[in-house]
Amino acid sequence: MALNIRTYRDLTEPDRSALVEQIGAQRRRVADRMAAVRHVVAVLSGKGGVGKSYVTAHLARALGRSGRGVGVLDADLNGPTIPRLLDAPAGGARPAHADAVEAAAGAEGVKCISMALLLRDGMPLAFRGPDAESFVWRGTLEAAVLREFLADVAWGALDFLLVDLPPGVQRFAELTELLPAPPAALIVTIPTPESADAVRRALRAALERGATALGVVENMVGGPFAGSAADDLAREFGVPVLARIPFHPRADVWDGIAKCIGGAA
Ligand SMILES: Nc1ncnc2c1ncn2[C@@H]1O[C@H](COP(=O)(O)OP(=O)(O)OP(=O)(O)O)[C@@H](O)[C@H]1O
Ligand SMILES: [Mg+2]
Repeated sequence: MALNIRTYRDLTEPDRSALVEQIGAQRRRVADRMAAVRHVVAVLSGKGGVGKSYVTAHLARALGRSGRGVGVLDADLNGPTIPRLLDAPAGGARPAHADAVEAAAGAEGVKCISMALLLRDGMPLAFRGPDAESFVWRGTLEAAVLREFLADVAWGALDFLLVDLPPGVQRFAELTELLPAPPAALIVTIPTPESADAVRRALRAALERGATALGVVENMVGGPFAGSAADDLAREFGVPVLARIPFHPRADVWDGIAKCIGGAA
């Protein structure tokens, strides 16, 4: 028996979901909101646990101290840590207008949005949806959350929107898809060669997507980790080492990087 397979050519009925228009409208919302943001800086590593969130939060506070308008978008939806690092109050993100949520207010006037502000304390992120092939839906829904964090938060006018990424490269790819222009990337590594390996892959993927690399921050220097990851990456990619951060650094370390970023971005 012949199979009755329809081709795209046969799908002549009007698209009642108006999918193309919906996507266009969503893109315009992101572009409108981001038009008031001077620099989007993605804090990227590829490697987990190297201090991306720690660096993001302390850099944001230093930029805030220097009088810049700063927001932090916590793009780590499954392990969000930014509100605690910024001392932003739980429940700090509230519906503001018909079309936006007010960002939570953190230390030094830094605005932030995070899944941690939206989930009940101690509860994991869980999507309601079909269990079968949930990995497909999860990716789609996470990208949708990222879009809402960009478009539906009343960021207002900002000098910097720092985006704290989870490990890997996937969230960076989603971010770049959503933004009107590719973000700048601030690279975080620890000194070890295995960190350099993971960072190298992530940085290459980011550059292939049009990112500008601001430079490398080497974290946890002078402790138990041996290696020269920051120098190696800087040489390979022709980018500066912006800072070497020891364990429990003094506050002026952050002021120094804030000055660099302020100039480089
Ligand atoms: N320079 C530092 N001095 C002291 N503690 C640090 C430093 N950098 C990071 N930490 C600590 O190390 C741990 C890991 O840092 P953090 O959560 O920022 O890493 P991450 O790269 O964001 O991790 P993930 O990949 O899970 O998102 C945290 O407990 C953080 O407070
Ligand atoms: Mg983190």
